[in-house]
Amino acid sequence: MSSVTVLDHPLIQHKLTIMRNKETSIAGFRRLLREIAHLMCYEVTRDLELEMIPIETPMAEMQSPAIKGKKLVFASILRAGNGLLDGMLDLVPAARVAHIGIYRDHETLEPVEYYFKAPSNLEDRLIIVVDPMLATANSATAAIDKLKERGANNIRFLCLLAAPEGIKHFGETHPDVPVFTASIDSHLNEKGYIIPGLGDAGDRMYGTK
Ligand code: URA
Repeated sequence: MSSVTVLDHPLIQHKLTIMRNKETSIAGFRRLLREIAHLMCYEVTRDLELEMIPIETPMAEMQSPAIKGKKLVFASILRAGNGLLDGMLDLVPAARVAHIGIYRDHETLEPVEYYFKAPSNLEDRLIIVVDPMLATANSATAAIDKLKERGANNIRFLCLLAAPEGIKHFGETHPDVPVFTASIDSHLNEKGYIIPGLGDAGDRMYGTK
């Protein structure tokens, strides 16, 4: 099974409560998702390795810490992943970005891939896959299959909400990929929505239905 970390920082939990509320506006939902992405990005990157590099301040030369190794990759599962991606890029503007277009067929709940564009050299880079909702985990596992086919060997998965069913499926398929979430909710309904959840994250971000 994958390791699962619930990011229970009070600011994350407070903002998540407002996002879940069906009365929250589209603009408010989008802003909160971006703010939570900042806080989650901070947590998911807290163990990145540093190296000392020489710099010159206006006063003196010094050795100062900087993130070591190749640039990170953020992989957004379209379209709702882009809400988290924007906040992540605020904190790590030099990150490379992969876009993975997958939607779930509303009848079968199976993932249908329609777009994949990623940096060519994924090997030995930390890749953080983002999607607000880990529901059935069908899209997440398909996205990670694809990244692994392209050489990815160091992946983390970041979501806002996870269903126990999704965590189980994800852990059986990609036990090497740690999951970071703000909440593990009760269950999935018959249509594959997370209960109590927050509804359709993409619709709430973009005002579609
Ligand atoms: N995707 C969503 O946007 N919401 C859910 O509850 C499940 C999947």
